Amino acid sequence: MKEDLLKSLKSLTDDLDGSVQKVQTEAGLSELKATYLGKKGRLTEVLKGLGKLSSEDRPAVGAKANEIKNIIEGRLRSALESLQRQSIAKELAQDTFDISLPGRTEVVGNVHPISQIFAEARHIFEGLGFATCSGPEIEDDYHNFEALNIPADHPARDLQDTFYLKDGRWLLRTHTSTVQIHIMENQGAPVRMIAPGAVYRCDSDVTHTPMFHQIEGLWVDDRTTFGDLKGVLTLFIQQMFGDGTKVRFRPSFFPFTEPSAELDMSCHICAWKNPSCPVCKGTGWLEILGCGMVDPAVFQCVGYDPEKITGFAFGMGLERMAMIKFGINDLRLFFENDLRFLQQF
Ligand code: PHE
Repeated sequence: MKEDLLKSLKSLTDDLDGSVQKVQTEAGLSELKATYLGKKGRLTEVLKGLGKLSSEDRPAVGAKANEIKNIIEGRLRSALESLQRQSIAKELAQDTFDISLPGRTEVVGNVHPISQIFAEARHIFEGLGFATCSGPEIEDDYHNFEALNIPADHPARDLQDTFYLKDGRWLLRTHTSTVQIHIMENQGAPVRMIAPGAVYRCDSDVTHTPMFHQIEGLWVDDRTTFGDLKGVLTLFIQQMFGDGTKVRFRPSFFPFTEPSAELDMSCHICAWKNPSCPVCKGTGWLEILGCGMVDPAVFQCVGYDPEKITGFAFGMGLERMAMIKFGINDLRLFFENDLRFLQQF
C-alpha cells in the first residue's frame, strides 16, 4: 500500500515534466496546475489513499507528498517565468526603434511681457493698500464720457477715436477711467483701487494699436492731497524702474482731474547722455502716465460730496511701460504672437 502510494507520487512529477514541455501558453500552464494540484487534481486523488495507511507509514508518505507538491509548484513557476521571458524577448525583437528620430521636447511657455508688467505693478500697488478691481469693456456714453466730465464736443468723442457699437448706445471703452465711476457709484469713500484692462481706440501705427491695456488708479479719502499723488506715483515708478529713476510732473489737462499732470520719468536707456537716444529722442525724459486730483464735477456725478472728499486718479499704458522696461521699439510686436519675440522675456 505504502509503496503504491509512493510510486503514484513519483509518477506525478514524471508525467508533469512531459506535459510542461508541450504547453506554450500561460493559460495552458494554469490548466496543468489545476490538473495536478487542484481540488479534484491528481495529487488530491493520491492523498485520498493516505487514510488507508498504517499510522507508522503515514508520516513518511505525507512528507513525500508535500515534497512532491513543492516540486510541482516550483516547476510550474519556472515554466511560467520562462514563457514570460520568451514573450518579452519576442516583443523586443519585433519592436524596432529609429534612434535617429529627434526626441519629443517639452515646450515650456512663458508669461507674456504685458502680463509680467501688470503682475509687477499690481504687486507694488497692493503693497500700498490698493485693491484690484475691474469693469466692463463695453460701456455706455455716460460712464466713458459724461460722468468723467467730458463734454459732448470734446475731441475724445470724435468718431475717429471711439469704436461705437451698431446701435450707437454702446461703445468700446476708450480708457479705464470708466472703472472709477463704477466703483464710486457702488461704494462710499474711502476708495483705494487699481483697475487693469483692455481699452480700444481707432488708431494703428508703430506706437498705437486699436486695442491696448491700461491700469487705472484711484485714491479717495477725506484729506487726500497732491502730495499723496506725488508720493505714491514716485514710489511706484522707482520700484518699477529702479531707485535712481527721476520723475517730473508736467502740468496737463484731463476733463476729469483738476489740476492735472503728466508724469515723465528719466530715460534709463541714455540717462541724458545721448542727444540722439531713440527712446527719449534726446530729451532725457519719457512720458509715462496721466494723473491729477479728481474733479469735483466727477464726485458730484457719483453722489460724493466734493466739499468733504478729495482724491487723485492716474492712468497708464501697460504696453508703453513694457516697451520702456524691456527696450522694445514696435508696439505691434506684443500682439503678433511670434515666439521668437515672446521667448525673450
Ligand atoms: N484716462 C486717461 C487717458 O486714457 C488717463 C488718466 C487717468 C488721466 C486718470 C488722469 C487721471 O489718457
